[in-house]
Amino acid sequence: MFKAKSITNDIYYVGVNDRQKLMFENQIPLPFGVSYNSYVIVDEKVALIDTVEIPFAEIYIDKLLNVLQGRSVDYLVINHMEPDHSGSIRAIRRLFPDIKIIGNNRTFKMLSGYYGIEDGLLEVTDNDKLSLGKHQLQFFLTPMIHWPETMMTYDATDKVIFTGDAFGAFGALDGGVVDTDLMITKYLEEFDRYFANIAGKYGSPVQKALEKMHTVEIKSICPTHGPVWRDQIPKIMEITNRLSRNEGSRGVVIVYASMYGNTEQMAEAIAEGLSEAGEKNIVIYDVAKTDASFILTDIYRFDRLVIGSPTYNNGLFPEMASFLLKIENRDIKQRKFSYFGSSTWSNASMKILATFAERMKWEVIGTAVEEKQSLKEIAYDACIALGKELANA
Ligand code: FEO
Repeated sequence: MFKAKSITNDIYYVGVNDRQKLMFENQIPLPFGVSYNSYVIVDEKVALIDTVEIPFAEIYIDKLLNVLQGRSVDYLVINHMEPDHSGSIRAIRRLFPDIKIIGNNRTFKMLSGYYGIEDGLLEVTDNDKLSLGKHQLQFFLTPMIHWPETMMTYDATDKVIFTGDAFGAFGALDGGVVDTDLMITKYLEEFDRYFANIAGKYGSPVQKALEKMHTVEIKSICPTHGPVWRDQIPKIMEITNRLSRNEGSRGVVIVYASMYGNTEQMAEAIAEGLSEAGEKNIVIYDVAKTDASFILTDIYRFDRLVIGSPTYNNGLFPEMASFLLKIENRDIKQRKFSYFGSSTWSNASMKILATFAERMKWEVIGTAVEEKQSLKEIAYDACIALGKELANA
């Protein structure tokens, strides 16, 4: 019943939408859902590229069988072993017992560990090629985008590259699959959020993968999540290049925590100072109200960051402590940084933010502002001055 979608004459999209999952990896909200993309190349030999998460196997297999019209699948290429893509491997192998599973030596260790599969394997190394008949495949090992075994598969005939998580975006696919058939602004936003939260830590491996991709002509990019990219290829390449170099555009993110509004007033005053000095790209977030995945996206986008927190039980406000851990976990580099905080009797938050800046090896701009109890004129003026310094940093 379920129909696949054509990507080129011989390549079909057989992926699925997940609009039920609330949190990706049980931690990142999915307001627009997510897709698990799988593709099949129908030639003299048939090759399936990746699979989908197991709850969707029935719809997935129905789509696949519709394309195959009674034929079998000869190869299953595993670009990435994470269970959102490898979940249906056992189901596919039960259906096609003679299938050859293509991966690299790291893939096969995970395949054994997750699914107990150790036979029917075809191991490839970097730049290996495989002919399907008319279609010639080439494999690029691209470790750490997003796991050690990740690789890309290039179809030299149709100039299509299957990139695994690289170039993925959150957002279930609303009707179409190719970017030209979708309302693209939403997916570009979700592309940035996906990069910041999934691939952001792996800037250097992403750069190496981009170098490999530049050796071939590409007309379509087929990731494992989100749209197939065609018209937007220059844009997503530019975004990926910039974000993976940790090159923020001009702009300031102010993230604060506040229990009674006193630290919040300091954030407002810093933003006023920034604005008075001509800065327009200012984004303010209350860390307790906005999910970290959205704040991290803007931290990747912009070059300056200001963090403020009250002292809470002689430490940071807990949501801020958790947020700093997420920044450190991604190892975001070369941000210009300032901080501020308020307290009633202990200034622990200021000390913690100072050591955080040291650990991140970020350049600290201006003089950090500290206030006791409510915001008063001296600290208010200091916040305005800090904002002005940041604007000129
Ligand atoms: Fe979509 Fe790293 O799995």
